Amino acid sequence: MAVERTLVIVKPDAFEKGAVGKIIDRFIQEGFQLKALKMFKFTTEQAEGFYYVHKDRPFFQELVEFMTSGPVVAMVLEGENAIKRVREIIGPTDSEEARRVAPNSIRALFGTDKGKNAVHASDSPESAKYEISYIFSQLEQF
Ligand code: RTP
Ligand code: MG
Repeated sequence: MAVERTLVIVKPDAFEKGAVGKIIDRFIQEGFQLKALKMFKFTTEQAEGFYYVHKDRPFFQELVEFMTSGPVVAMVLEGENAIKRVREIIGPTDSEEARRVAPNSIRALFGTDKGKNAVHASDSPESAKYEISYIFSQLEQF
């Protein structure tokens, strides 16, 4: 197994619920190292660029509107097999399904539904590389 870096974003719904601290702490408790961290608000263009892989999906506009609706907190996490392990800890895309099949997952605990699902996490080494460099400069990563 290799040491990997992955990108997590606390989405506007979880930020609004005051869950930022709990979510960061969960990843620390799970053994990941925090390598970068910042709070910001996406512009429409920035959110479209971040989620360009979904540009032809029916939910794209809803996704961009949601992601620009309030502040977010992005972080880079590092650890063994981090991309897959973080995806397991956040749970399935649909928060209702997460409550059924993975009740201790972050989406089960803090998400609302399929769109408003508390967190984003990279789903492959390629997307992690793109997303980390999209959000963080070299100088912001340790
Ligand atoms: P993410 O990229 O945010 O980590 O989520 P994911 O891999 O679990 O899900 P993905 O298929 O990549 O979808 C990206 C985000 O789009 C919103 N979505 N809404 N209304 C819908 O049917 C729907 N499907 C997806 C969610 O916010 C999802 O996380
Ligand atoms: Mg995804």
